[in-house]
Amino acid sequence: MVNRAYGELKIFAGTSHPELGEKICNYLDIKLGKSEIFKFSNDNTFVRILENIREKDIFIIQPVSTPVNDNLMELLIFIDAAKRASAGRISAVIPYFPYGRTDKKDQPRVPITARLVADLITISGADRILTLDLHAGQIQGFFNIPVDELTASSILANKLKSIMKDKDDAVVVATDLGGAKIAREIAKILNTSIAIIDKARNDNSETVKSHNLIGDVAGRDAFIVDDEIGTGGTIESTVEVLKSNFVKNIYCAATHGVFSRNAIEKLSKLNINKYFITDSLPHNYNKNTQFNNVSIATLFGEAIKRIHEGSSVGELFKKNNI
Ligand code: R5P
Repeated sequence: MVNRAYGELKIFAGTSHPELGEKICNYLDIKLGKSEIFKFSNDNTFVRILENIREKDIFIIQPVSTPVNDNLMELLIFIDAAKRASAGRISAVIPYFPYGRTDKKDQPRVPITARLVADLITISGADRILTLDLHAGQIQGFFNIPVDELTASSILANKLKSIMKDKDDAVVVATDLGGAKIAREIAKILNTSIAIIDKARNDNSETVKSHNLIGDVAGRDAFIVDDEIGTGGTIESTVEVLKSNFVKNIYCAATHGVFSRNAIEKLSKLNINKYFITDSLPHNYNKNTQFNNVSIATLFGEAIKRIHEGSSVGELFKKNNI
């Protein structure tokens, strides 16, 4: 694949999720680019690109998973190395964008760290961003370079569709008002209705309280959907509300499985039949349990191909063929 403007397509992966990099390259039928990444004894990260990338179209895959600050710094250093190696164009592929929840000044004297991260990525030399289900779509506007935000909605909806018995018996549940958009997208594909939970966080302790339910779930199968699962508190609290409203079976689909603290243990104990979680982040849950991995590699592979060839990424979703 050669783009006349930028030269050969080359894909590299940082250390946060090389498996995803391999899968994307398999889809595109190209080899993952060679690099070496290590830390010196003083904890400084070092990245070296081990092949010629002069004037080439470079994509660096690095979802910013735990350890977040190390993986973020590694991405910045990787971009810098590519820039200094005279890459023709550098795209930062960030399936999970870090600090997405610190996206506004909602308390006195707090940072907007998502904006800071956007500045760091831009200053390091990225020409464009490819990402997935941002916590808030407005984060796109923190960049002054092009951002392509993909969504896993149709991939997750198709998984839910495969287990759905009767559309009148199913309802898609958003865990808070912010999640209504993704819930609506999925409900549209499933041709069913939605319900929304009124969720509150009182402070920065990451504890949540789900209160009222808007919508009808009694006697129906609920598909809880969310952009990310962190501590699992939101899902736990949502399940409590659904049960007290006489729901039948519960399934859950989320784009990003952050699974912080004891989330897996907590989620395993909930009365949820199946979880569908994408591989935007690496996971270590036992795949023989309720947890089902849903790959976004084809989606990203196709988007990268289209960006490289200069064709529409939006068309990808219109056709709903991923
Ligand atoms: C928050 O507003 C998001 O959409 C998720 O609901 C949240 O990130 C989940 O976090 P946790 O699992 O820690 O409750």
